[in-house]
Amino acid sequence: MDISKRWETSRHANSHFSKNDLFRKSLEYMVQKNPTLILDEVKVDCAKCHNPRITKKTVEDKDKYLLLMGIEEKKQEMQNVLNTENMKNGINCVVCHNIDEIHLDKSKGSQGMNNVKFGEQGTMFGPFDDADSPYHQTAQREHFASDDPTLCFVCHYSTSNKHEVEVYATGKEYDASGSAEGCRDCHMSGKFEGFASNYSKNGGKPKPRMVREHRFASVDNSNIMIDHIDIKTAVRGDSFILTLKNKTPHAIPTGYGLREIILNVAYFDKTDKKVGEERKVLAAKWLDAKGEETIPHLAKSKSQDTRLAANTTQEYLFKIPQGAMYAKYTFSYRLISEKMAQTIGVTDPFFLKEYVFSERRIHLD
Ligand code: HEC
Ligand code: HEC
Ligand code: HEC
Ligand code: HEC
Repeated sequence: MDISKRWETSRHANSHFSKNDLFRKSLEYMVQKNPTLILDEVKVDCAKCHNPRITKKTVEDKDKYLLLMGIEEKKQEMQNVLNTENMKNGINCVVCHNIDEIHLDKSKGSQGMNNVKFGEQGTMFGPFDDADSPYHQTAQREHFASDDPTLCFVCHYSTSNKHEVEVYATGKEYDASGSAEGCRDCHMSGKFEGFASNYSKNGGKPKPRMVREHRFASVDNSNIMIDHIDIKTAVRGDSFILTLKNKTPHAIPTGYGLREIILNVAYFDKTDKKVGEERKVLAAKWLDAKGEETIPHLAKSKSQDTRLAANTTQEYLFKIPQGAMYAKYTFSYRLISEKMAQTIGVTDPFFLKEYVFSERRIHLD
């Protein structure tokens, strides 16, 4: 129950389009912009990472033809494939714990469920060699027992869109950083003594074990931003300086290409009147064939990328305006840029909100 409760707070539990406005609007936008695509086809394509227990791997030309003809039977079949309870649970326990073997070819990037061999139904793989459950078979697998990030790379290594533009590359960034720390210490937790289950044998006590939290920490359900990114201030001449230290083994922001880290500095004079404001954004921009901004999955190119590389420190200079007595900086995060959220019609406040991690007022001397 504890593990489930934690997992429910994660994005893994919200990866089905029925639970994720940004994902749903992205699918719809792709179809709207590309008349040869149909919605069910894109849903199936994206499902290999977003909903890997899907029973249909591809939409064939003949399926597509029947769907376009509006054949009721085919529509119903797709409906059944895409909206099962199992699918709606996203990256659920069975997705990870039924993975028997992982075959990842890094040169091809992540292929989600096409990288894995699932085990027999009812077998759960995990980190322990002595787990024994009355409810299901158990077996140990190295991809759980070691800190190695291979399990995460099934979906998080990298992926490119139809135009060969790389849209996410967290695992690649990690490899390039040379780090060996894995993903779990930060995104799950350090190991601590707890319980893998509250079941006990023969009326005894549940067995204490070294476990981790299933929080899959992200910006919205944890403090990872403050825990692993340092922010320092300084004043030099007429510059106000924010220094960011990225202590993670991947870029910040990483992952989905429209995330933004925002540094905002506002200035006030001695009467507390605002005398200036400046904003710097760490993010990437994605362009279509006409050179207009679009979503990563439709982009023909990336025009600009100011994300901060793994394990690096960077100074950001802000010019102090005349008469400023105080500076107030805000360090915050957006899951999608305001502009693109508007373009694709995102309405869920969860995605429109600016997540503020630190805010300080500093006397300028
Ligand atoms: C089967 C594919 C898959 C596997 C395996 C997987 N993930 Fe994910 N993960 C996803 C998808 C898809 C999302 C985005 C879900 C959404 O927001 O709709 C995600 C989201 C996340 C997020 C949240 C990012 C955010 O949007 O805020 C974190 C953190 C994360 N995963 C960490 C991990 C770690 C650590 C592992 C390995 C223990 C792992 N994942 C294994 C597919 C996977
Ligand atoms: C994204 C992949 C992923 C998902 C989803 C996932 N787990 Fe895990 N689970 C792991 C990893 C990785 C470990 C090994 C942690 C370690 O390094 O010890 C683990 C460990 C465990 C363990 C061993 C004890 C512990 O907590 O370390 C249990 C029990 C468990 N998971 C149950 C569940 C249940 C129940 C769910 C669904 C609510 C779930 N898991 C969902 C990846 C996942
Ligand atoms: C030292 C701690 C640390 C380690 C180790 C780490 N991360 Fe992160 N991760 C962070 C922080 C902090 C963020 C938030 C900033 C950002 O979005 O880049 C983050 C963000 C993410 C996100 C995007 C979250 C979002 O909201 O979009 C994903 C996906 C992710 N990490 C996956 C991984 C994977 C996979 C690994 C292992 C290869 C890993 N991380 C290792 C600290 C860590
Ligand atoms: C190779 C695996 C993979 C495939 C295929 C894939 N995704 Fe993702 N997707 C991910 C991972 C991993 C994340 C989490 C990264 C992060 O949150 O920063 C993610 C996150 C996202 C997000 C952000 C969701 C959120 O809650 O903020 C959107 C939107 C998205 N993907 C759209 C798509 C679309 C549309 C497709 C199909 C055209 C697709 N993805 C195919 C792995 C994949």
